[in-house]
Amino acid sequence: MQCCTVISALHLRIAALVLALSSCFTVNVSAQTSPATIQFDSTTGVFRIDAADSTYVFGINEVQGLQNLYWGGHLAASDHFAAAHSMPELSSFELPITVTPQEYVGWGGGLYVDPDLKITFPDGNRDLALKYVSNRIDGDTLSIVMKDISRDVYVTLNYQADGETGILRHSATIENRTGVPFTVEQIAAGTWNLPRGTDYRLRYLTGRWAGEWNVQERHIEPGKTVLESRRGTTGAQNNPWFAIDREGAGDQDQGEVWFGALGWSGSWQISVEQDQLQQVRVTGGPNAFDFAYLLKPHEKLTTPDFYGGYSSHGIGGASRLMHRYEIDSVLPRHPKPKLRPVVYNSWEATGFDVNEAGQMALAEKAASIGVERFVMDDGWFGERRNDHSGLGDWYVNQQKFPHGLKPLIDKVHSLGMDFGLWVEPEMVNPNSDLYHKHPDWVLNFPGRPRTEGRNQLVLNLARPDVRAYVYGFLDNLLTENNIAFLKWDYNRNWSEPGWPAAAPDSEKNVYVDFTNNFYSILVELRQKHPNVEIESCSGGGSRVDLGVMRYTDEVWPSDNTDAYDRLFIQNGFTYAYSPGVMAAWVTDSPTWVNSRSLSLEYRFLSSMQGALGVGANLNKWTREDLDQARTMVAAYKSIRETVQRGSLYRLIAPENNSEQSVTETVSRDGKQAVTFAFLHSSRELYPFPLVQLRGLEENATYTLSMIAGNVDDGTPVTASGSYWMHHGLGLKLRGDFQALAFTLTQTK
Ligand code: GLA
Repeated sequence: MQCCTVISALHLRIAALVLALSSCFTVNVSAQTSPATIQFDSTTGVFRIDAADSTYVFGINEVQGLQNLYWGGHLAASDHFAAAHSMPELSSFELPITVTPQEYVGWGGGLYVDPDLKITFPDGNRDLALKYVSNRIDGDTLSIVMKDISRDVYVTLNYQADGETGILRHSATIENRTGVPFTVEQIAAGTWNLPRGTDYRLRYLTGRWAGEWNVQERHIEPGKTVLESRRGTTGAQNNPWFAIDREGAGDQDQGEVWFGALGWSGSWQISVEQDQLQQVRVTGGPNAFDFAYLLKPHEKLTTPDFYGGYSSHGIGGASRLMHRYEIDSVLPRHPKPKLRPVVYNSWEATGFDVNEAGQMALAEKAASIGVERFVMDDGWFGERRNDHSGLGDWYVNQQKFPHGLKPLIDKVHSLGMDFGLWVEPEMVNPNSDLYHKHPDWVLNFPGRPRTEGRNQLVLNLARPDVRAYVYGFLDNLLTENNIAFLKWDYNRNWSEPGWPAAAPDSEKNVYVDFTNNFYSILVELRQKHPNVEIESCSGGGSRVDLGVMRYTDEVWPSDNTDAYDRLFIQNGFTYAYSPGVMAAWVTDSPTWVNSRSLSLEYRFLSSMQGALGVGANLNKWTREDLDQARTMVAAYKSIRETVQRGSLYRLIAPENNSEQSVTETVSRDGKQAVTFAFLHSSRELYPFPLVQLRGLEENATYTLSMIAGNVDDGTPVTASGSYWMHHGLGLKLRGDFQALAFTLTQTK
């Protein structure tokens, strides 16, 4: 969300394009491949967006409100819609405004479902009635202006349609032209309305530290389910993503799915609401709890983007569309973001105990197995001996690195790797020079306790001086050192979210300003240091969303690196996010998480389903371990493009107590398919289930090649796509914690 400042270059481009063109016409865009089409019928007042396999329709109704008419599979060009009409008043208890599928509605006039916008004006008036004013269409972008019936509150709705995936990006900009400040108390990016029905199932993601990305399902009942974070940032307890399908009508690769995600790294909410007349609507935006934003005259407030998509190929199809969209349209450097390098990270090996000699020794071993990026984690700065001190003091620790970082960085470069560094910019330990100098810089309510988490407090990034400090030290670090990568961590949530230096009526602006400053620092750093890559980490996966993904190249899904637990974590993660951004390290066995012992091969295969890294103490690895690692890293490099960019199929999801997990990824050009299979424990002589592949070309010929493990005797080396998909193949997996992987490569 931005106030007055437009922080994204993409937004700037869109804004410029929107201004350039006039309304009421049809345009085709991206003519080479799959154009998105936006039409406005001025006779009926109906807007229609066609993109990829979906059609989205809404219209201006008789009270000048915007009302959804259709969202689903692609309709014929000849299909026409009559003008929108509100639902009739069925009783005095069900007023039309509440039961009509509103596209964007202000609070007032008897609205009992979640409003998109609620404002308190200085005279105490809290009624807001938004009416259609005008529209502009510019290629794949539609903007619609609405205005309150009497006050100069303007709302511009923005829609952008992606011709490749059909995903719509929706946001709203509120402008105060009333001449006096008013307080925005609730604001949504928009509402997605589903076809009326009662047979819907909601999927969503829950979690906690070291246990992120659990896939949950629930029947959508009358009433409301709220997915949310009140924590100041995204959180792992819910992730801002949802998918809705029809109960029993399909699953992984079949059936209709409506899905979406909110691009906001602050407190957020997505409410899924089935009203009294069985209308299901999904409203998303910043969390309304404790929310307020004082909008002064002439200021604008832009919401985060709320993305929505439709798939007729099941939940697997929905995930594939999300992955494609993230890579092609969201990540920095889209549509061609760089492939993830193989990383080494020091955290699990050396903890806070980092020093020049120790890191150099690890770097040598890492380079010897094919690692491309060496990342030094926590412990290199200030008086950082443990997690009790040093956060905030971003100077190199002289005892650990007497000559600064340069000798280590030079060594890493001489080994053919680039260098990355851990930072946690928004945090401070009370035991630090920074806190002693600026105790007022933390979020707090004066005179009240300042609750610590991991012995640290949260700096108030909404303050201009804190923002300047954080940007300044990061800019210096990147200017003075040859650093290719920052792991940007954030290891707690907010507790007392006070901003005492702000005027009381704008203190709660902290919810918006903190997050916007976080984004703007990332934007500015990337502009000044265009070759630097950044990872979003928050004690694992607590800050993963489409907002931060616009400015970060990868994310850390979990501190839990147990390769078996990771199957579940990675499975849930990929419902919403691409394996191409999912960092996954091979660490030591037995794992610190479960004291579970797993073979090195198993650990590699588990991590090779994402962006492979190594986080083990390589000093303890035997020569055989290092040789095996070298082989696996080389194998990964030969499949990396497929894994990071391809189409993922969950052949057997590790859900519902499944003993197995099988994923298959088909490269974008269709020439390579990579399959990973894992067995928890075999029982009672049952063989591993037959594996039937998906997404291959029926008539093409594919050659089988093992990365690890064996398939059943008698399996052909070369066969048609039909054979691999319909006949399938048997896998030799027996015992406990077994794994294998193979590729199929198109030969004709
Ligand atoms: C968080 C991260 C870890 C590691 C530690 C360092 O927990 O998720 O990967 O960087 O901080 O303190």
